[in-house]
Amino acid sequence: MSRTARLLPGKPVADAVLAEVAQRVAALRARGVTPGLATVLVGDDDASAGYIRIKQRQASDLGFASPHQHLPADATQDDLLGVIAGYNADPEVHAVLIQYPVPGHLDYDAALLTLDPDKDVDGMHPLNMGRLAVGMPGPLPCTPAGIEALLAHHEIPVAGREVVILGRGATLGRPLAMLLTQKRPTANAAVTVVHTGVTDWPRYTRRAEILIAAAGVPGIVQPDHVRPGAVVIGAGVRYSGRRLLPDVDESCAEVASAITPRVGGVGPTTLAMLFRNAVTAAERATERT
Ligand SMILES: NC(=O)c1ccc[n+]([C@@H]2O[C@H](COP(=O)([O-])OP(=O)(O)OC[C@H]3O[C@@H](n4cnc5c(N)ncnc54)[C@H](OP(=O)(O)O)[C@@H]3O)[C@@H](O)[C@H]2O)c1
Repeated sequence: MSRTARLLPGKPVADAVLAEVAQRVAALRARGVTPGLATVLVGDDDASAGYIRIKQRQASDLGFASPHQHLPADATQDDLLGVIAGYNADPEVHAVLIQYPVPGHLDYDAALLTLDPDKDVDGMHPLNMGRLAVGMPGPLPCTPAGIEALLAHHEIPVAGREVVILGRGATLGRPLAMLLTQKRPTANAAVTVVHTGVTDWPRYTRRAEILIAAAGVPGIVQPDHVRPGAVVIGAGVRYSGRRLLPDVDESCAEVASAITPRVGGVGPTTLAMLFRNAVTAAERATERT
């Protein structure tokens, strides 16, 4: 297979963002404020426990305090709300991560609604989605913000260009559309969102200058869905055990001018944005005091 597309790795983007976060954390600490990124995990899912460990290690490397609470798998909704209320009231906790998913008997959305929106490190609280919709400052959803940063870092012009997003999910496609239509040099695009209600969606993706796959359907994007020379960003993935199955078929690299790698594209930028949200929350809380 002849590869023609330039690769767009996420690691250099994440490294640049994390270097900036580390400097901002150091500046806060120099003023006597240790930014606090708290986590809560419910249950014994190995993958979730692993994700939390990675985040805690990175938080401590960056200079954050990272208090953690681990609730048992049979914890009640009140137990979870109690942990969140404690973090809301703690002035040394500036940002909170509720590890998703929670066990099936718990209501994640209801729990998220009780979190102080200014401490919402994932940028997924409905108030923060509303802030994004109207252009008010607030924590941004991490994967959409990571995609904007990835495009900017690799100097892919977005403003004025035709972007098509495949998928309108609440964590990715929908907030990404809100982000990339904002009036900002790294956004300001003409965005179209397609989904299962648009059965002839390839008609739209074939005209995209930037195509962003956000469906979570392995191999859904094939070369004949891609405009020759387009930029292709693969954000949607599904896991089969530990094997990652991306939305974008690798052969799209023969048609695209630039494309995210199969592994190490959008993922690393998502994590970096979480820490950027956390340090921003600490800075804003410090300004308020
Ligand atoms: N890389 C990262 O760090 C990262 C972070 C977050 C999410 N993700 C991935 O991004 C993907 C989307 O996440 P999400 O939470 O937004 O998921 P979601 O809520 O399930 O949304 C998936 C979207 O894709 C659309 N879709 C599914 N099958 C389709 C088809 N055959 N034709 C056209 N549209 C189709 C759905 O359309 P309908 O609305 O019509 O059902 C829906 O809008 C997932 O794979 C997730 O793992 C990756």
